Amino acid sequence: MFTHQDLAQLQAQSLKMQSFIRQQTYSPEMEKTLRRFSSWEVAELIFRVNQSTMRGRLAADPSLPQGLVEEDGRQRWYSLDEINEIRRRLKVNRKSLMPPRPAGKRAIRAAIANFKGGAGKSTVALHFAHAAALDGYRVLCVDFDPQATLSHSMGLSDVSEEFTVWGVMARDLIRETERMNAAVQGAESGAALPQRRLPASVTDMGLSDLRVTDFIKPTSWPTIDIVPSCANAAFVEFASAQYRHLNPEWSFFAAVSRYLDSLPDDSYDLILFDCPPAIGYQSMNAVFAADVLYIPSGPGYWEYDSTTSFIGQLSEALEDLGRFGSSVPAGTLKLPKAFTDVRFLLTRFEPNNELHRAMQSAFGKVFGDRLAEHPIEMTRAVEQSGRFLSSIYEIDYRDMTRETWRRARGSFDQAYVEFRDNLVKAWDEIEETGA
Ligand SMILES: Nc1ncnc2c1ncn2[C@@H]1O[C@H](COP(=O)(O)OP(=O)(O)OP(=O)(O)O)[C@@H](O)[C@H]1O
Ligand SMILES: [Mg+2]
Repeated sequence: MFTHQDLAQLQAQSLKMQSFIRQQTYSPEMEKTLRRFSSWEVAELIFRVNQSTMRGRLAADPSLPQGLVEEDGRQRWYSLDEINEIRRRLKVNRKSLMPPRPAGKRAIRAAIANFKGGAGKSTVALHFAHAAALDGYRVLCVDFDPQATLSHSMGLSDVSEEFTVWGVMARDLIRETERMNAAVQGAESGAALPQRRLPASVTDMGLSDLRVTDFIKPTSWPTIDIVPSCANAAFVEFASAQYRHLNPEWSFFAAVSRYLDSLPDDSYDLILFDCPPAIGYQSMNAVFAADVLYIPSGPGYWEYDSTTSFIGQLSEALEDLGRFGSSVPAGTLKLPKAFTDVRFLLTRFEPNNELHRAMQSAFGKVFGDRLAEHPIEMTRAVEQSGRFLSSIYEIDYRDMTRETWRRARGSFDQAYVEFRDNLVKAWDEIEETGA
C-alpha cells in the first residue's frame, strides 16, 4: 500500500537526484545570453528599411552606435540596446522608427490561453515577446504555469515560489482582507460585522512587505522582464481554494489585475500572459487581467474539439464571477469581464497538409474574423531548439539552413504583425487611467 507519505519519500529521493544532476550539468555557458543582430537583420527585418540607406545613415553620424565587426565578415553586429538607441535617435524618410503607442495609457495586456496541453501557448508567448521587443516595445511576461516553460526559456530556473503568481495572490489576499476589515470598522452601521482573520501561516510569510517590483525579474533580453513561475507554485491551485475559504468575499480572480494596476502606466508597453493548460485560479487571474485573449490551437480535429470545450468552460467560469460585484468598491472591478479583442490562432500549421487546410477553413467558417489570418507554421527550427525553448529570433541564422530560418521567422513575423495591429486597435479602446 502506498500513502501520501510514500509518495513524499519518492519525491524526496527524486529531488536529491535532481539537484545532483543540476550540479553535474550546470555550466555558466548554459546561462541564456542574447546574441547580437547583423546589419542585414537590423535594416531589413527589424526596421524594415533598405540596407544601404541604413548603412549610409549610420556612417554619416559616428555618434550613433556602430556595432561590432566580426573578423571574417563585413557585417556589423548590434546589441538590442544599440538597436533601441538607433531607433530612438534616427528618423528614416522623416519617419520615426519607434513603434506605435497611444499616449497616456497603461500597457496593453494579452493572455495566451487554451486548456489544451501542447497547443503552442508558451511558444507563441515566447515568440510574441521577442518579436515585440525587437519591434521596440518594453515587455513584461507573466508566467501563470507552474510547468514554467516560459520562465525556463527566458533563463529563469532558480525561482522561489513566493515570487510567483502564487505570491502575488497571497499578498493580495492579505491586502484585500485588511482593506475589507478597515471598511467595516469605518462604517458605523457595519461595526457589528465580524473582522476576517487570516492565519499566521498566511500573514507571517512576509508577503505584504514585498514591493510590486520584487516579483519582477530581468531576463537576458534588456527590454523583457518576467514574473516567473516554478514547479513549487503548482500548489497555488490548492492554496487558493483554502484562501477563498478564509475570506469568501475576496475577489481571488482579480489579484493579478490589481497587482498590475499598481505598476506605473509607463513602465511597460505590452504585458503577455502564458497560461497553464487548465481552467483554475491562475488562468482565471490571467484572463481577468487581460484586455485581449489569444487562443492558440493546433490544426487537428481533436484540437478543434478541445478548443470548443475550452471556450464553453471559460464562458461559464466568467459568468460565475458575477456574484462578486458587491464585495469590492464600485469602479475598481468591472463585471461582467469584457475583452477588447478575442482571437483564435492556428499553430503548428503545415500549409501542404490537406487536413490542416481543411481544418483552417472549418475554423474560419465557425469563427469568422475571430480567426487570425496568419497561422504559425510547424517548423523544425523551434521543435529542435534544445533544452530551453529558444525562439527563432534568438537562433543565429548562421547556425542553420538560411532558408529554414527565414521561413520560420517569416511565419512568426506575420503572426506577430497581425497581433500587433490588433493590439494597437484594442489599445485605443482602453480607458486612460491618468496614473
Ligand atoms: N510552430 C511550431 N513548430 C514546431 N514545433 C512547435 C511549434 N509550436 C510548438 N511546438 C512544439 O510543440 C510542443 C508544445 O508547445 P508549447 O510548449 O508551446 O505548448 P503549450 O500549449 O504551452 O503546452 P502546455 O499546455 O504544456 O503549456 C513543444 O515541444 C514545442 O516545441
Ligand atoms: Mg506552456
